[in-house]
Amino acid sequence: SNPSILILPGDGIGPEVMAQVTRIIDWYGEKRDLAFDVSTDLVGGAAYDAHGVPLHDDTMAKAMEVDAVLLGAVGGPKYDNLDFSVKPERGLLRLRKEMDLFSNLRPAQCFDALADFSSLKKDLVAGLDIMIVRELTSGVYFGEPRGIFNEGNERVGINTQRYTESEIERAARSAFELAMVRSKKLCSMEKANVMESGILWREVVNRVAADYPEVELSHMYADNGAMQLVRAPKQFDVIVTDNLFGDILSDCAAMLTGSLGMLPSASLGAPMDNGRPRAMYEPVHGSAPDITGQAKANPIACILSFAMALRYSFAEGAEADRLEAAVEAVLADGVRTADLLGEEGVTPVSTSEMGDAILAALDAS
Ligand code: NAI
Ligand code: MG
Repeated sequence: SNPSILILPGDGIGPEVMAQVTRIIDWYGEKRDLAFDVSTDLVGGAAYDAHGVPLHDDTMAKAMEVDAVLLGAVGGPKYDNLDFSVKPERGLLRLRKEMDLFSNLRPAQCFDALADFSSLKKDLVAGLDIMIVRELTSGVYFGEPRGIFNEGNERVGINTQRYTESEIERAARSAFELAMVRSKKLCSMEKANVMESGILWREVVNRVAADYPEVELSHMYADNGAMQLVRAPKQFDVIVTDNLFGDILSDCAAMLTGSLGMLPSASLGAPMDNGRPRAMYEPVHGSAPDITGQAKANPIACILSFAMALRYSFAEGAEADRLEAAVEAVLADGVRTADLLGEEGVTPVSTSEMGDAILAALDAS
C-alpha cells in the first residue's frame, strides 16, 4: 500500500499554503510514480467550530496510524477569547504529546537568492545549511516542582530543569542519526559548567557517540553557542540541545535566514512498525490573520516541511533534494511572494502563482 499522510490544514493561511503542498503531492503521484494515501481533517479553530474541541478523538487516532502528519497552522483572533482548554494551540499540543514527538528539527537554510534578507552580512550566511535538534518533551518547561509558592512573606516562582538519561539518550540518538545522513558533524550544547543536567547531558551524549564512530562530535556551552551562531554560523552542521536552549537557539538561527514564510520544521518520535519515526511536519509560522484571504501567503515553509517528510518519513532523500532544488531555482529566477520583497520594481506573486512556479521547476527537473 502507499505511504499515508494526514493533512491538517488548520486555520488562517494554513489551508492556503497547504493547498499548494497538495498540488505537489499530486505531482509526485503523477510524474514520479510516488503516490500517497492522503486524508484531510480539522485541527485548531476549524475543529473547534465543527466539534467544540480543537482536536477530535477520531483525528488523534488517525494521526497515530499514518506515516506522517502535515500541519498548516492554528489560531486566530476569532478564537483568542476561548477557554484555555479548547484554545486552538491545545490541538497542536495534544498531537505533540500523544505522538510523543520528543525531537524537534529546525533547519536554518539560506538560499543564495535570499542572502540579502538575513540579519547578518551576506557572506556569513550565503549557502548556510544547519539543523538544530531541540529536545521537545522534557526539561525546564515540564520539570516538577513547578509553580508560584509562598515563601516567608514573599512569593517564589519555581521551574525545574530535569532530564532523565533515557530522555537525553533518545534526543541524542535522533541527532546522531541525522548527522549520519548529513555531513557527519554534530555539536551538542548545554551548560555543563553550571548545571547538573548539563553534566549528565554531556555524559550521555558521549556514551551514545560510541555507536556513531563516524560522526565528529563536539561540545559547546550554550551561551558560547549563541555567540558562535551569530559570529560564524557555517561552522555548524547539526546542533543538538535541550528544550529551553533549543527554543532560544532555533529562533536565533531562524533570523539568520530571513522570512518566517521560508522556515520548515519536523517533530519526530520513536520508530513505528515501519522503522520510520512517528512524525509531524509543519511550517514554523502561525496562521497570519493579517494576510489571510488575500492570496499573499508564502507557501514555501509548508512546501519545505513536506520536503522534510520526504526525507525523514519516506526515505526519499533524492526527491526531497529535487523539491528543495525546485524552490531554489524559483527563488533564483526572482519569483517572490510579498514577504520576500526587497529589490525595487519586483511585482509579488500570489500563493498559487508561487505554487505554479515550483511545479514548473519540478517539471523541468
Ligand atoms: P504568524 O507567524 O502567524 O505571523 C507573524 C507575521 O509573519 C505576520 O505579519 C504574518 O503575516 C507573517 N507571516 C507568517 N507566515 C507567513 C507566510 N507564510 N507568508 C507570508 N507572511 C507570513 O505569528 P502571529 O501573528 O504572532 O500569530 C498569529 C496566530 O497564529 C496566533 O493566533 C498565534 O497563536 C498563531 N500561531 C500558531 C502557530 C502554529 O500553528 N504553529 C505558531 C505561531 C503562532
Ligand atoms: Mg520560540
